[in-house]
Amino acid sequence: VTTPPHLQHLPLPPVEAREASTALARLIAAEIESGDGWMSFARYMELALYAPGLGYYSGGSRKLGSSGDFVTAPELTPLFGRVVARQIAEILALGLPSILELGGGTGALAAQLLAELAALGRLPERYCMLEVSAELRERQQATLAREVPEHLGRVHWLDTLPAQWQGVILANEVLDAMPVHRVRLEGGEVLEVGVVNEPQSSCHFGLAGRPARGELLRRAQALELPPGYDTEIPLAGPAFINTLAGALARGVMLLIDYGFPQHEFYHPQRRQGTLMCHYRHHAHADPFALVGLQDITAHVDFSAIARAGAESGLDMLGYASQAQFLINCGITDLIAAAPREPRAYTELVAHAQKLLSPAEMGELFKVIALGKGIAEPLLGFAQGDKSHTL
Ligand SMILES: C[S@@+](CC[C@H](N)C(=O)[O-])C[C@H]1O[C@@H](n2cnc3c(N)ncnc32)[C@H](O)[C@@H]1O
Repeated sequence: VTTPPHLQHLPLPPVEAREASTALARLIAAEIESGDGWMSFARYMELALYAPGLGYYSGGSRKLGSSGDFVTAPELTPLFGRVVARQIAEILALGLPSILELGGGTGALAAQLLAELAALGRLPERYCMLEVSAELRERQQATLAREVPEHLGRVHWLDTLPAQWQGVILANEVLDAMPVHRVRLEGGEVLEVGVVNEPQSSCHFGLAGRPARGELLRRAQALELPPGYDTEIPLAGPAFINTLAGALARGVMLLIDYGFPQHEFYHPQRRQGTLMCHYRHHAHADPFALVGLQDITAHVDFSAIARAGAESGLDMLGYASQAQFLINCGITDLIAAAPREPRAYTELVAHAQKLLSPAEMGELFKVIALGKGIAEPLLGFAQGDKSHTL
């Protein structure tokens, strides 16, 4: 695997990483070959991110944080977890015992939540983590042992989703890591855009369309996309919501991610979709580069998430921008109460600005809450609930 000419500015991965990438590219090429020479983009993304031992999340490379490929809100500042804890404390106070965090990254959010919930006198009975990446599971264990050793006894790592869950289900930036299908509108027809082998190209793979079918075709037709339009249609994210809904006996799913309601996601001017790749803090749009070494992500269609929730019997409890949610949960009070040691305070304000500013994470990131058996309104959506836009 070599870096393609248009991405020569990316740092060169170490030799072992390039070898692992070559092995993954071969595995994908063989699967394409053994099929009929074409693979759905969702399957490509699934293998690139999660092929056992080789995919981006299942392999050993360091992903999150300043030495990784991207930084998430809990990686940026513990202020994020401290504020989210206020919403979670309110939910736990409804007699719900536990928290299940999906895709907990380095464990930063879990550590922040446990510390803050302890301070609020609202520790959960159990804090469970469900993580598909072995590397991240290890980092979670190390983070929690270092940051909150006194609460480690409450933390459990699960291998599968529990059959019956009562409590909070929390996921920050997990839906954007789920495989997406791609479609293109061409000559009045909906094509599903998939992946073919192109041994002569620098990335080994290329895109090719064929007539879309089944659920994908139905979803694309319902969107009434204009000619020439190229986009993603996420089927895995909504399916994941159905699965989670089946496991939720009573409680709240709190999902935080970047994305839009359907009318913005499929805006006539967004003609190339939202797919992005991250490698060592460089963002680009080539999913075939550095296969297995770079993150591949798509924005979330929150209308599709809300629809999946409704179809599987969940109630819509709220949908707001991250800024609105954090303000409702009291971020400004926390900042006002912070010690005024100049350097730490300046850093805190800069981080709050990043979480809240419309030019940074404040507007692009959203929080959606779906629930079962919860009649009470939630603090985080007290003002500016935009569920009606979904
Ligand atoms: C972009 S990272 C976010 C990490 C962390 N939540 C944070 O905010 O720093 C995506 C995470 O989702 C996890 N993930 C992806 N699909 C998953 C699934 N089906 N179940 C649980 N975790 C999943 C990945 O392994 C990874 O930990």
